[in-house]
Amino acid sequence: MHDPVWLQKQAQLSLERLLPRVADVLDDSLYPVFEQRLRAHFPRLFGLLLELYGSQYDFFYSLEQILLDAARMFARRPAELRALDDAREADPDWFQSEQAVGGVCYVDLFAGDLAGIRARIPYFKELGLTYLHLMPLFLAPEENSDGGYAVSSYREVNPSLGTTEELRALAAELRENGISLVLDFVFNHTSAEHEWARKAQTGDERHQAFYYLFDDRSMPDRYEATLREIFPEQDPGSFTYLPELGKWVWTTFRHFQWDLNYSNPDVFNAMMQEMLFLANQGVEVLRLDAVAFVWKQMGTSCENLPQAHMIIQAYNAITRIVAPAMVFKSEAIVHPDFVAQYIGWEECQLSYNPTLMNLLWEALATREVQLLRHSMIKRFGIAERCAWVNYVRCHDDIGWSFADEDAIELWIHGFDHRQFLNAFFTGRFEGSFATGVPFNYNPRTQDMRISGMGASLAGLEQALERDDPLLIEHAVRRILLIHSVIISIGGIPLIYLGDELATLNDYSYRENPAIADDSRWVHRPRFDEARAAQRHDPATIPGRVFGTLQRLITIRKTHPAFANGGTTFADTYNPHVFAYHRHNSVFVLANFSEYEQTVPPVVLVNAGWGTADLVDLVSGTPYAPAQEITLAPYAFVWLTKG
Ligand code: GLC
Ligand code: GLC
Repeated sequence: MHDPVWLQKQAQLSLERLLPRVADVLDDSLYPVFEQRLRAHFPRLFGLLLELYGSQYDFFYSLEQILLDAARMFARRPAELRALDDAREADPDWFQSEQAVGGVCYVDLFAGDLAGIRARIPYFKELGLTYLHLMPLFLAPEENSDGGYAVSSYREVNPSLGTTEELRALAAELRENGISLVLDFVFNHTSAEHEWARKAQTGDERHQAFYYLFDDRSMPDRYEATLREIFPEQDPGSFTYLPELGKWVWTTFRHFQWDLNYSNPDVFNAMMQEMLFLANQGVEVLRLDAVAFVWKQMGTSCENLPQAHMIIQAYNAITRIVAPAMVFKSEAIVHPDFVAQYIGWEECQLSYNPTLMNLLWEALATREVQLLRHSMIKRFGIAERCAWVNYVRCHDDIGWSFADEDAIELWIHGFDHRQFLNAFFTGRFEGSFATGVPFNYNPRTQDMRISGMGASLAGLEQALERDDPLLIEHAVRRILLIHSVIISIGGIPLIYLGDELATLNDYSYRENPAIADDSRWVHRPRFDEARAAQRHDPATIPGRVFGTLQRLITIRKTHPAFANGGTTFADTYNPHVFAYHRHNSVFVLANFSEYEQTVPPVVLVNAGWGTADLVDLVSGTPYAPAQEITLAPYAFVWLTKG
């Protein structure tokens, strides 16, 4: 760490030297705003880059290149996006609003291509979405693509989905319809077919230095002694042998995903330009993929290292200068302490909330909310001006990443509990309602994760097979219950599209050799036209789920109590009922059991609500002051003063 006074002075000196160079690459009309933002954010950027790259002999050259390339990307930023930058600088908390509601889908599976997505804008609006995450849509290898997370070009849309011009037009059209486009920045690795990787394969030294290449196994073996395996079934270990080169390359994920070497400032700069290219297409939220892994250090797990944070913070500073309309969302599916470390106004303003996600399923399995409540009391509060993205599932597996420390405080043994949850969600636990599929069992650690659509995990698949009306009713209520939590708890709810129609598991991936070994495809189904056609008929299951979610979203949007912030958790004196206040004006109760539950009047009295008439915003049911509240199986209420 450098002395702050010295650092400030160095930053000032460098900036004064660099400004004339920057002025050379920008028009007079663009320079003033760039200079103004640079003055505001350069000191922070300088400190971070000095920390990361200051020991390299050509540090000042790299710094200059980074600034000039950033300025060039600014020059290319379309006027309407520069206008959006101004608007967002004036309203930086836009994503905190009760209006913010998210959805996520694959372009090909949901709508065929980008034109199809455009045609589905009315559907997104019908559901109430204001945030749309399109899964990776850039060029990727034909077979080995990890669902698009092996990127071969960050600038070329996969031709089967459309063109880059279409993407830009789509972003603009979504924006006109009040929907922010969210795309991935897969910055930990490129595909083995990316131009940089191809050049590295042919011996080009500059591009070999973009990756981690090793002549033999000695270094890889030493690293692997402390690394976690992410896909032990498909690609054990973290390195892949390249026979043409006679070298090993670092591949944390699949063998065709080459980790980028961020200790090389050339990589930082190159990826910065790819990031700003995405910003210039109209991306408003950038999902930073696999943030935990971007820095490596011998003898560590190579996850969540301080330098990983510095890289993201430096990209954040650059974004504040070049494209301040864009915010970052962190994808850190790790221990909750580490998840929280990526969240900050100067790092990632948004973050997935994997702890809530996996504990909602945990509470459904156990019918008890103690671990959910205890963990949320400890961990729901985050850095100021930031927000959680709350989801019940996504395109990835569900891993039980709750904290063992939280569990043991309730006498729950983390390891044993995970064994139970895995058995429960794969249907191996007597009486389980869930139909999930194992993902990446690791015999060495006994670790395992779960794949499955929300509806199947919530019991609908089994209930339909057994054709049992009561079980069907319970399953539907479970689906609604967990969605009611993500919609009301605070932050941006993110609906995994398909779930809004109670879509079931799709086992067809098993017939496709390219993906048969990756059970995550069981929960990546095609858009189901037949289900969608039923969405306005409440007598059907898709209709009931779609209609209820739509209603909950509408209620959320009409009550500022659902804006981010002001979430406090309450004890209900009932182990099955989860409860929280929103901004002291809505009180949520959610019953996680299939039996009727009551909540004693003291809960409302403690909250200072003992003398008020109450009404449930969802059903309209009135409650007399200090009345005992009865909740039907899996029911929830959003109480407000009547
Ligand atoms: C992220 C993605 C996941 C992918 C991995 C490697 O975690 O969500 O689908 O496999 O990164 O890019
Ligand atoms: C691990 C990683 C996460 C990735 C997932 C893919 O949980 O932490 O980044 O998305 O594996 O299955």
